[in-house]
Amino acid sequence: MDERQRIIENTLVPHTAFNEALIRMTQCFKYANGSTEPICTAIVGEARTGKTRVMEEFRLIHPIVRHSEGLHVPILYVKTPSKPTVKSLVELLLQALKDPKFHIGTENNKTMRLFMLMQRTGTRMIMIDEFQHFYDKGLRAVMHHVADWLKIFVDDSKISLVVGGLPSCQAVLDQNEQLAGRFLSRVEMPRFDWNNPEHRAQFMDILEAFQESIGKYFDLPNLDSDEMAFRCYCATGGLMGYLTKFLRQLVWDAIDEDRKIISLNNFAAAHCASVWDTNKISGVANPFSKSFKLCPSPEILEKISLIGKAIVETPTPRRRGGRQPKPKSATQQIF
Ligand SMILES: Nc1ncnc2c1ncn2[C@@H]1O[C@H](COP(=O)(O)OP(=O)(O)OP(=O)(O)O)[C@@H](O)[C@H]1O
Ligand SMILES: [Mg+2]
Repeated sequence: MDERQRIIENTLVPHTAFNEALIRMTQCFKYANGSTEPICTAIVGEARTGKTRVMEEFRLIHPIVRHSEGLHVPILYVKTPSKPTVKSLVELLLQALKDPKFHIGTENNKTMRLFMLMQRTGTRMIMIDEFQHFYDKGLRAVMHHVADWLKIFVDDSKISLVVGGLPSCQAVLDQNEQLAGRFLSRVEMPRFDWNNPEHRAQFMDILEAFQESIGKYFDLPNLDSDEMAFRCYCATGGLMGYLTKFLRQLVWDAIDEDRKIISLNNFAAAHCASVWDTNKISGVANPFSKSFKLCPSPEILEKISLIGKAIVETPTPRRRGGRQPKPKSATQQIF
């Protein structure tokens, strides 16, 4: 495979929050053994801020290994199903431990089997991603049964628990003081904010890292110059996931068109193809076009902060005597 295809995936940028999350998880993992109570932590952030990536990177440090005496699973990772129940969560955990009979038995049987298997495979940490699914936004209710089960489970097994999720997952802890009491303060994965000098400097550092890796293969305008950094910021809303998606497109286009040089026009095209939808944010030109104003006005920054956020559609008023329009989905994503 052409190694240039994976330049972006292979570039890991250890920004401040990323490092903070790694340090927190390292501590939880280290002190889980022999602790009298479970140590839990939450990695919280808006969509596409890098929660899953930092959890993945930590798992790479403590990988699953098959020894002659069996499987060693130091970290058990699952993604919360969309409407979690004790049954669905335990089954997922059992499946992650390669239990072929994960669907067999009562809730209690399965829980007991999970304890046993975790002991046998040396599990010290459970990671539960997409933890916001423990909170039903529609019903505005926490799935209390499964949250209580989780509390008892981590108490009894004394392992450490890391949850990752959108800010709405905070409701699960806010409404369950016993579970909350077992958590250290949360680590926040940020959307970088141009108005915040510390964030701006970090965003520039991230661009510098990508400049270095892309620059090994291609000639491109300096990503970490003030001008390009502002354009990239406006293109991605300061979201790590949007930045990597856009840069990946830029690289793929150059590979497919057999170019070594990447021009500003190529940036504009890659942006159109990967993240730009001018209809959703009105009055903002493509950040890589000639007509784009290089001025961080409060108006533009306000609009850019909407990138990646779900917008709630206001219901269309009913027409008198006319037919009711078909309902649209309640939320849609900008871009
Ligand atoms: N520190 C980083 N260095 C390099 N790439 C990163 C970093 N953090 C995130 N990414 C990349 O950004 C993209 C989005 O990251 P990730 O999936 O972890 O976000 P997320 O917060 O879990 O999003 P969601 O809430 O939608 O699940 C991924 O392609 C990931 O590899
Ligand atoms: Mg994720």
